[in-house]
Amino acid sequence: MKIAVIKGDGIGPEVINQAIKVLDAVSGRFKCSFEYQEVLMGGRAIDETGVPLPTETIDICKKSDAVLLGAVGGPKWDSLAGNLRPEAGLLGIRKALDVFANLRPAMLFQQLRSASALKDEVLAEGLDIMVVRELTGGAYFGEKKRVRIENGIKAWDMMVYTSYEIERITRKAFEVARKRKNKVTIVDKANVLESSRLWREVTGEVSKDYADVEVVYMYVDNAAMQLVRNPGQFDVILTENLFGDILSDEASMLTGSLGMIPSASIGVSRVGIFEPIHGSAPDIAGKDVANPLAAILSCGMMLKYGFNMENEANAVVEAVNNVLDNGYRTIDIMQPGMTAVGTEKMGSLVAERVQT
Ligand code: IPM
Ligand code: MG
Repeated sequence: MKIAVIKGDGIGPEVINQAIKVLDAVSGRFKCSFEYQEVLMGGRAIDETGVPLPTETIDICKKSDAVLLGAVGGPKWDSLAGNLRPEAGLLGIRKALDVFANLRPAMLFQQLRSASALKDEVLAEGLDIMVVRELTGGAYFGEKKRVRIENGIKAWDMMVYTSYEIERITRKAFEVARKRKNKVTIVDKANVLESSRLWREVTGEVSKDYADVEVVYMYVDNAAMQLVRNPGQFDVILTENLFGDILSDEASMLTGSLGMIPSASIGVSRVGIFEPIHGSAPDIAGKDVANPLAAILSCGMMLKYGFNMENEANAVVEAVNNVLDNGYRTIDIMQPGMTAVGTEKMGSLVAERVQT
């Protein structure tokens, strides 16, 4: 398998190095082989090539079997124009690979239960949510503009969706639900937004093909509230790009740490992007304190959703669980009585357990 690797900015390189360590352990144990090719995107690409997403990067990613990504961005590039920022590179690669479905699991590792901000009784029903976020449409990609007007400036970002875009992400979400608890909560703002009303129509039609899956519609403000009130009611959450960005951060924090949550972005082509959902955290970069588990678990998602290698994927998840069972913690998930370890050490511990 050929993997294009974008280490990115901030803590990106550190966590990706640990993820690669674990992948190498997987290839050692299961006799498969991974070939890595490093490419530039984001802040480092801006520094070295002048643009956030060089064409060469797109070409190499398209020819690979998967893209493994750390995180991009940082204060250094914050003052650049929107289309030259590191984030523009991220949106660009998502669009170039047409990865319209972003799967973001928020699962509670029982070992970390006390790290969750939620009370025990709220977590009684457990927490195992898959946010399916539409990734290549909506306000992120609609027309953006700024015009000067008489008394100031006017700016807009149009939230645009076609029925085609809604249909394909809906089918994906229903298929995911069938492999889980057969329930999809569709989150929108149909009481106000026309695009949301189109979402309701199209998802309603598509759902007829999945009569076995329970469908619930929920307004996004209510969904944000229900997530902290009673997260156990959710299985799959299907939503548009911007709502999904916000709700997936919220859902993941319910589990205790953003540092634990991987993601998979998949689409029509076979090349998916696998990345932790946390950002580049420039404030802690280079200090060997970042939690590499989200990056490592992203490799698990790559094995499962990208390469259909279920056993190998399970081995990664088991190894992570085993390390947590043995009391090892990075500082973001540290608890009394546990053993604090750095980024490197955490990576090595998981790799060792994958091997055996
Ligand atoms: C994410 C991030 C990105 C997004 C940013 C960095 C552009 O927040 O992957 O959730 O909003 O999609
Ligand atoms: Mg986000």
